[in-house]
Amino acid sequence: MSGKGGVGKSVLAVNLGAVFTKHGRKSVVVDADVNSPSVGLQLGIPYTNIGLQNILHERKQFQDAIIAHPATGLRILPASLKYMRGVSLKNFNRVISEANKAYEFTIIDSPPGITEDVLHIINASEELVVITTPDVPSVSGAIKVISLCKACKKRIHGVVVNRCTDASFELTAREIESMTEVPVLVRLPEDDSIPASIAAHLPVVHYAPDSAVSRKLNEFALSFVESGQPKTQGGGLITRLFAFIRGIFA
Ligand SMILES: Nc1ncnc2c1ncn2[C@@H]1O[C@H](COP(=O)(O)OP(=O)(O)OP(=O)(O)O)[C@@H](O)[C@H]1O
Ligand SMILES: [Mg+2]
Repeated sequence: MSGKGGVGKSVLAVNLGAVFTKHGRKSVVVDADVNSPSVGLQLGIPYTNIGLQNILHERKQFQDAIIAHPATGLRILPASLKYMRGVSLKNFNRVISEANKAYEFTIIDSPPGITEDVLHIINASEELVVITTPDVPSVSGAIKVISLCKACKKRIHGVVVNRCTDASFELTAREIESMTEVPVLVRLPEDDSIPASIAAHLPVVHYAPDSAVSRKLNEFALSFVESGQPKTQGGGLITRLFAFIRGIFA
């Protein structure tokens, strides 16, 4: 989930799925962004006969829509790029219960912001990971999504901070924890190997496995596999420095 768009949700979803698959764990990445699907595009699978929209509205079978990424074996449930009027995720939980029966890990790639569809995605999910970049507008968006998840009584695993450069003006993990009141799970660096991997239609953990971002993604994904719970980063004392921003969205 994220408040703002373009912060790295789809990249994260694809790479979590790729690491789980690499380690022999049955997993599927579901593209729930029906208005702007990108999971298939990132992997070079733009066309699909059956997409999430067809399962939701035409009662097509869940298993018939699953595609295996040829180079990695990663399973995806794509959303169709074809425009379909009036698509709603009202019955999304039905799709997710099907996925949960067949896969150990169902990773849902959400659209940004707070919409009816996002609400359906939150309700269909067991646990939520919120992603942000280390700047105030993006973290402010994350705070809104977090309050929505809390209102839905959903478990929030934590926050992933993406595109970190360690510039002095960036918010630190501790500041982000203070603003969101949620632990930072991992900080992913800004890395050109990500756009390069998308151009090569591969998850970055395959395209550049030794890059700094791939090592972090790998470690983060394995924290789910090994303990069932991701480790936190940048924890410790949570300061109240940014409580005023949190207050605005309370
Ligand atoms: N750590 C990173 N370093 C460099 N580029 C990155 C990084 N993470 C993501 N990007 C770039 O940012 C762009 C947006 O990423 P992505 O599509 O995953 O965002 P999103 O949150 O899913 O966007 P949307 O809200 O539109 O669905 C991608 O084109 C990708 O190349
Ligand atoms: Mg996306």
